[in-house]
Amino acid sequence: MHLRPSLLIASFIFVSAHAGGSASAAQDSELVNQGRLLAQSMCSDCHTLGGQTRSDHAAPDLAAVGAMRSTTTLSLRVFLRSSHANMPNLILENVQIEALSAFILDLGGK
Ligand code: HEC
Repeated sequence: MHLRPSLLIASFIFVSAHAGGSASAAQDSELVNQGRLLAQSMCSDCHTLGGQTRSDHAAPDLAAVGAMRSTTTLSLRVFLRSSHANMPNLILENVQIEALSAFILDLGGK
């Protein structure tokens, strides 16, 4: 019986290590969905979200951005932390950046 506490701790460590590791497919699609909702409310005034870049929009289509070879989770993280040239400073939480990056890469077929 006196073994139980350490077993509990061991399983807790296992669970937290697992949760911190690579996300499951279900978590990935949840993140992508969150990113889609964020992009629809925060980015779609300027960016199209898959489809054709509208000629009256100066901003590139986000699916095209996601498909670019140079676009990675890291590049998006860096980009979304800084401000873009013609974009009012968007203050994004880390979780929003993660979700938006997942969505943009998914949109780009990655
Ligand atoms: C007020 C208009 C506006 C809003 C709102 C906006 N953007 Fe942009 N975005 C632009 C413009 C214009 C560009 C192209 C010029 C530049 O890179 O500064 C751009 C460029 C980008 C790029 C870089 C594309 C490349 O070539 O690497 C990314 C990524 C991006 N936007 C993501 C977002 C996301 C995500 C949001 C929502 C959180 C967002 N933008 C909201 C106007 C906007």
